[in-house]
Amino acid sequence: MLVYEDIEAARRAVQEVRRAGRAVGLVPTMGALHQGHLSLIRASRQRCDVTAVTIFVNPTQFAPGEDFSRYPQPRETDLKACRREKADFVFAPSVETMYTPGSQTTVHVSGLTEGLCGPHRPGHFDGVATVVAKLFHILPANRAFFGEKDYQQLKVIERLVRDLNIPIEIVVCPTVREADGLALSSRNAYLSPMERKQAASLSRALFAAVERAQQGERDASTVTRRIRETILAAGPATIEYVDLVDAETLEVLPVVDRPARICAAIRIGSTRLIDNVAVGNAQR
Ligand code: PAJ
Repeated sequence: MLVYEDIEAARRAVQEVRRAGRAVGLVPTMGALHQGHLSLIRASRQRCDVTAVTIFVNPTQFAPGEDFSRYPQPRETDLKACRREKADFVFAPSVETMYTPGSQTTVHVSGLTEGLCGPHRPGHFDGVATVVAKLFHILPANRAFFGEKDYQQLKVIERLVRDLNIPIEIVVCPTVREADGLALSSRNAYLSPMERKQAASLSRALFAAVERAQQGERDASTVTRRIRETILAAGPATIEYVDLVDAETLEVLPVVDRPARICAAIRIGSTRLIDNVAVGNAQR
C-alpha cells in the first residue's frame, strides 16, 4: 500500500493506473476509520481494480465552535486498517497541501443544502463540496463510494458531479450499524457509556416510523412527532430536526406520497448524531 501526502505524486499514481486501462475506486474519509468506512473500501475493491482511500480532516467543513480541534486522528491505526482491507493507495495530505494560502475558490451547492443540516452547520456543505471537488480533480477515479449515513451529503455530491460535469460515478453504500441499531460514526467515540445506551433511541425511533409508514401512516407530522417522543423518552437530548423529505429534492413533505427519507439530527451531551431511513416505496 502506497501512502501519499503530495498532490502530484498521488495524481500520477492514479493516472498511471487509468492509462493501463484499470478502474480506480475512490473512498474519501476523514479517518478515525470504523466498519462503515471499511464497508466502502470493500465495495470499491469489489467493483474496481485499484482502491484509493483519502484521509483528510477537512477544516473548512467544520462550522465555528464545532469539534475540528478534537476530531480523532488515529493515523497509524487508520493506515493499518487500510492495509488490512487491501487498499492500494492512501492519500493523506496536510491542511497546507490541500489549501494553498490565499485560496479564494469555494463550491456552493444551493437548494439541497438549505434544509436539514444546512441551517445548523453554516458553511458545512460548502466545505464538503469544495474538498470533494478538489479530491475528484486530484485523484481522477472512475467511481467514488459514499455512505447513505450522510444522506444530505450524498445528494449534494451527486448534484455537484452532475452540475460540474465531473466524470465520476457515485456509488451509494448502505449504513452500517451497531447491533442495537446505532449508525457507526467516528463521533460515537465521544459518547459516555450512559449516553451510548441512550443514543440507540435515534435509530429505534426511525425504524418504528418506517414500520408505521408501512402500516399506512402517511401524515408526516404524526410520524415525526412520534420519533421526537421516542427520542426524548430515552433521556435528555436536544433535537435539531426530524424531517420527512422528498428522497431526491430533500424538500419537506406533508404526506408520504412518494419515495421519501426521514432525516434526523440530535445532540446527546456534546455529541451530535445524525441518521436517516427510507419510507414510501424507497425502503432499503
Ligand atoms: P467521514 O465522516 O469520515 O465519512 C466518510 C464516508 O464514510 C462518507 O461517505 C460517509 O457517509 C461514510 N460513512 C460514515 N459512517 C458510515 C456508516 N455507519 N455506514 C456507511 N457509511 C458510512 O463524510 C465525510 O467523512 C466527509 O464529509 C468527506 C466526504 C470525506 C469530505 O471531507
